[in-house]
Amino acid sequence: MDAASLARYDRIRPIRWAGDALELLDQRKLPFAVEYVRCASSDEVAGAIRDLVVRGAPAIGISAAWGVVLASRDIEAATGAEAAKELQPAMDRLNAARPTAVNLAWALARMRAALHVASAGWRDALEREAQAIETEDLAANRAMGQAGAALIAPGSGVLTHCNTGSLATAGFGTALGVIRAGVAADRIARVFAGETRPWNQGARLTVWELQQDGIDATLIADAAASHLMKTGRVQWVVVGADRICANGDTANKIGTYQLALAARHHGVKFMVVAPSSTVDMATASGDLIEIEERDPAELLSHRGERTVAEGVRAWNPVFDVTPHELIDAIVTEKGVIERPDATSMRTVFGS
Ligand code: MRU
Repeated sequence: MDAASLARYDRIRPIRWAGDALELLDQRKLPFAVEYVRCASSDEVAGAIRDLVVRGAPAIGISAAWGVVLASRDIEAATGAEAAKELQPAMDRLNAARPTAVNLAWALARMRAALHVASAGWRDALEREAQAIETEDLAANRAMGQAGAALIAPGSGVLTHCNTGSLATAGFGTALGVIRAGVAADRIARVFAGETRPWNQGARLTVWELQQDGIDATLIADAAASHLMKTGRVQWVVVGADRICANGDTANKIGTYQLALAARHHGVKFMVVAPSSTVDMATASGDLIEIEERDPAELLSHRGERTVAEGVRAWNPVFDVTPHELIDAIVTEKGVIERPDATSMRTVFGS
C-alpha cells in the first residue's frame, strides 16, 4: 500500500499523548460525538480502560503504558529499579482494569523491563518505551494488513466482528487493517460488519470508521451471520484477538466462536489478525483464559433506557474462545500461521 493510500485509510487516532496528560477519544460517545477525555493520572487511565472510553486489546496496552508515565510524575527515585518498585501499585491497578486482553499485562511488563535497564535517566526511558509501544503497534498493523489481504482472493466478501480498527489500536487496525488493505488492493468487494451486541462495537464504531475512509460496508444483526454465509456473500470471516494461546486458541469478542463454527459449516475461511503483543505463550490453551464478565445492565438497557422487564436476570460474558481447529490463519507481524497448533505457534513465537 503506498503512502497516499495509507493516509487515506488511516485517519483516526484514539490515543494522544499531550506531554502532561493522555487524551483518549471517548468511544462511549461515538459515532455521534467526537470528544477526547483528558486523563491526568494513571488511575484516570485505569478508569477509562475499565469504562470503555478506550477499548480494543492493543489500545488498552498502549494507554496503560502512557498511564505508567503519568504515575511516574508522582514519585521520586534515584534508579530505574527503585522506580519500578514505587510504581508497582499503580501498575497493578492498571493491570486489573480488564482481565482478558493480554496486551495490557504485556505493555506493563515492557515498561517494567525498561525501568530495570535504566539508571538515573529512567524517566526518559519510560517515555521512550511508551512511545515505542505505540509506534511499533502501528507498524505491525500496516504489515499485517498486507499479509492478511494477500490471503484473500480478488472479488471476495468479508465479515468482521467487533471493532478492530484504528479505534482499537495505535492506528490502521488489525482485522480492519486487513480489510483496509484488501479494499485498497481490489481484493475485497463486499464488507459486512456484525452489530456486536451488547455494546455494539460493530454498529457504533466499525461501520463509522469505514465510512470515514469511504469504504462501503453493510451492517448486519449478529444473528444474520449464518444466513449471510449460507447465501454466499462472504468468503472470509476476519477478526481480531484479545489473547492467542500457545496452541492457537483465541479469545475475542463474544460471538466470535459462533462465527467460526458457522464459517466451518459453510466452507467460509476464518482469519485471526493480531500483533505479537496479543500472543500469550505462557497460557497453554483457551480453557485457561479469564473471560471478563461485565455488568448485566449492558444487556438490560440501551443507551441508559431499560428495555427488559424489571426482575429479569442476565449473564454478560464479553469474550469467548475459538478453538484453534476452527482457525484457517493467524496473521501477525511476525508471519502468517496457517491452521495453527502448538507446534506451528512454537515455530514462530518460541516457547
Ligand atoms: O471489549 P472490547 O471492545 O475491548 O473488545 C475488543 C475486541 O474483542 C477486539 O476484537 C480485540 O480487542 C481486537 S482489537 C484490535
